[in-house]
Amino acid sequence: MNQLSDRINNLATSATLAMAAKARELRAEGKDIIGLSLGEPDFNTPDFIKEAAIEAINQNYNSYTPVDGYVELKEAIIKKFKRDNNLNYTLPQIVVSTGAKQSLANIAAVMLNPGDEVILPCPYWVSYSDIVKLSDGVPIEVETSIENDFKMTAEQLEAAITPKTKMIWYSSPCNPSGSVYSKAELRALADVLKKHPNIYVVSDEIYEHINFKGGHFSMAEFEDMKDRTVTVNGVSKAFAMTGWRIGYIGAPDWIARACNKMQGQMTSGANCIAQRAVITALEADPSRIKYMVDEFKERRKLILNLLSEIEGFKTNEPEGAFYVFPNVSSYFGKTIKGKTINNATDFSLFLLEEALVATVTGEAFGNKDCIRISYAASQNEIIEAIKRIKTALS
Ligand SMILES: Cc1ncc(COP(=O)(O)O)c(C=O)c1O
Repeated sequence: MNQLSDRINNLATSATLAMAAKARELRAEGKDIIGLSLGEPDFNTPDFIKEAAIEAINQNYNSYTPVDGYVELKEAIIKKFKRDNNLNYTLPQIVVSTGAKQSLANIAAVMLNPGDEVILPCPYWVSYSDIVKLSDGVPIEVETSIENDFKMTAEQLEAAITPKTKMIWYSSPCNPSGSVYSKAELRALADVLKKHPNIYVVSDEIYEHINFKGGHFSMAEFEDMKDRTVTVNGVSKAFAMTGWRIGYIGAPDWIARACNKMQGQMTSGANCIAQRAVITALEADPSRIKYMVDEFKERRKLILNLLSEIEGFKTNEPEGAFYVFPNVSSYFGKTIKGKTINNATDFSLFLLEEALVATVTGEAFGNKDCIRISYAASQNEIIEAIKRIKTALS
C-alpha cells in the first residue's frame, strides 16, 4: 500500500531531470545520445571564482553560515542590484538560498495559503507549477502565443485575475522561450496591477546576463512595484555555477524576514565555500563573463539557421537564455518510422529514440505544441544534433 503523503504523490517529477535520466539510461546501453535537454551551461566555472573558493577553504570557512547569508555576500548582492538593475535594497531585504530554486520555494511557502492563485504565463519554468502546488497554491496558466513572442499581454493578465489571485511569477529572459520583457511591456502589466494592490510579483531574473539584445529591465525598478515585487536571481547560469547552489532574493523586508524564518527551519544558511566564491563572482565586472554570452549568441545564430531548414518547425527569435522553443505541432497526427506522434511529448521521445537527441517536451512548461532545445552545447554537437533530427524526420 502506498503510505506516502498526498503531497509527494501529487508532485510531478521534474521533466528536465526525467529526460536527462532517460538519456543516461540509453547512453548506458551504448547509444550515442546528444543531450540538449538540460538547462546548464557547458562551461567551467571561471578560474577567478574557483580561486576564491579555494582561498575560503584554506581560510577555514567551515562553520554554519548565517541563515540569510554572509553579510559580505549580502553587501555584494546589494551592490550588484544597484550596478546592474538600478535597484536599492538594504541588508534585511536580501536572503541568500541554496539556489534560486530554494528562493522560489521559500517565497511560495511564506506567501501562499491554500487555494491562493498564482498566475503563470505559459510557457513557464518547469518547476514553478509544482513549487506553487507544494505550498497548496493553485497555478493559473495563461497561454501566450508565438506571435507575441510568448509574452503575456496586459489584457491576458487582466482576464486571469480573480479575487483569489495572490501572485504572478515569470522569468525574463524566459526559460524556456528566451523572451525578454521590455520596460514598456512590464509597465503595461504593472498598470493592470495598480488596480489590484494585493497581488505580488516574482520576477525571476536568473538569465539576466544572458541577453543578446541588452535592455534588461526589472519589475521592481518601477517605484509603484518595488514594494510588491520579489526579485529572484542567482549565479547558476551566467557564471556557470549550477552545482554551487547559490541563489538570492531582493524583497520587501517582511517577505525577506519570512523567507529567512522558513529557511532557518528547513535548511539553514547556504554552503559556506560557495557563498565566499559568489562574493567574488558578483563583485566582478559582468564583462568577465561576456565570453560565455558571446558564445551563446553564436550558437543561437547557428541553431536558428539550422532549424529554419527543417520543415514544420516554427520558432520565435529568443533574445536571451540558451534555449529555442520551436512549435512542432505540424507533426502531430503523423506516423514516422512506425511511431505515431500525437503531442509534444511523443515528438520529444521520438527525437530521443530515433535521432538520439535529448530535448524536453513543452508540456513540462505548460505548452503542448512546442519542445525545448537547449543550445548550451558545443557548436559541433548542435550541428550534429540538428542533422540527426532532420534525417529522422525526413
Ligand atoms: C528560470 C529559472 N529559475 C530558476 C532556476 C533555478 O536555478 P538554481 O540553479 O539557482 O536553483 C532555473 C534553473 O534552471 C531557471 O531556469
